[in-house]
Amino acid sequence: MIDVAKIRKDFPMYSKGGLYRGLPLTYLDNAATTFKPEAVLEAQDSYYRSFTANAHRGDYSLAHDVDVAYEGARKTVAAFLHADPDEVCFTSGDTMGLNEVAFGLEKFLKKGDEILLSEGEHASNVLPWFVLARRKGLVIRYIPLHDGRITVEGLRSVLSERTKVVSIARVGNVLGYVSDVRSLCALAHQYGALFVEDGAQSVAHLPSDVKDTDVDFLVFSGHKMCGPLGIGVLYGKRDLLERMDPLLYGGEMNARFYEDGSWTYSDVPLKFEAGTQNIAGALGLAAACRYLSELGLEQIAEHERTLRRLAVEKLRRLSNVVLYNEDGDTGIVTFNVKDVFAQDVASYLSSKGVFVRSGQHCAKLLPPLLSCQATVRASFYFYNDEADVDRLVDGCAHAEDFLDVFFA
Ligand code: ALA
Repeated sequence: MIDVAKIRKDFPMYSKGGLYRGLPLTYLDNAATTFKPEAVLEAQDSYYRSFTANAHRGDYSLAHDVDVAYEGARKTVAAFLHADPDEVCFTSGDTMGLNEVAFGLEKFLKKGDEILLSEGEHASNVLPWFVLARRKGLVIRYIPLHDGRITVEGLRSVLSERTKVVSIARVGNVLGYVSDVRSLCALAHQYGALFVEDGAQSVAHLPSDVKDTDVDFLVFSGHKMCGPLGIGVLYGKRDLLERMDPLLYGGEMNARFYEDGSWTYSDVPLKFEAGTQNIAGALGLAAACRYLSELGLEQIAEHERTLRRLAVEKLRRLSNVVLYNEDGDTGIVTFNVKDVFAQDVASYLSSKGVFVRSGQHCAKLLPPLLSCQATVRASFYFYNDEADVDRLVDGCAHAEDFLDVFFA
């Protein structure tokens, strides 16, 4: 059982009596980004305060200490994913990782090859593929969703020998459904296609094991898992990373370059880490991995499910609320208040100290499938509690009064 009151002591955002602008802080936008515990802030700060130097470039003791800490962070992140450290490349985040994958695979793709996505993907897992498709004459196809879910049957219906890549989120950022990446990946592999797991909404919430799922790539951001901004991970199978081209060129990713315009690459993972890296961010991300591991990913997932069940049960009783994912698997609850624009609902809830996201949530192909223009999304994490659920529900019960906020 997660003890929320105890856990909140770890988070400076909950100091000041758990208030924000004089109201109880009810942060329910964890799918967008998460709060950071002291352990993460300290790990990041320690780099700036106690041992600042560049990594992999210096032959003095201070630089050596940085090298050891940076590579130690890689080992911690790798253990968190059940990956080998050499297969873990630090990036600036999920978007960078997906761009690295898409453009890294460019040289293996040719006109007519197919990329399979779903209409539930967020922009980072759509636009790099669109650009590549336009550049190379590839065909983008969508896995049909069954009641909003990506299923093995849905994938089977669009897979063919033309499919070269299947790229999907394990957890969708609007409906919060969990896809069975292990089975989907196995099916994609039967057709010789590569499988890319977008872990933006899953790595922070569910255990990840790349050896078990056998995915070819897994990408995610640190800031959605209690880590710092500007750091993320591209996991890739070693042989793929070795054969792909990196997206960025510069220092550290090259072994040599010559006057005739040729170069050789550094070994993976450094081949994908051009330029000075976010060393402090990597240390912070490793601290986040340790923090989440200590809490236990299974426990975190169970806590989120408990809160979502409670929220759904209470919201369902409100006649003015339409729910889109009553049967969701994670802490994401997506809804509308009848006859009120989603953005107005979010502004009204904000006036009560309840912070949710509204709009299309970067998944701009999905709203027509839900028969609406926009939705309100509440996303829970392990530091949320039942009182947060109640404040959300109370706010929704009166959300038609949103004009009172604007004209008060
Ligand atoms: N993709 C992020 C979200 O779902 C920003 O809010």
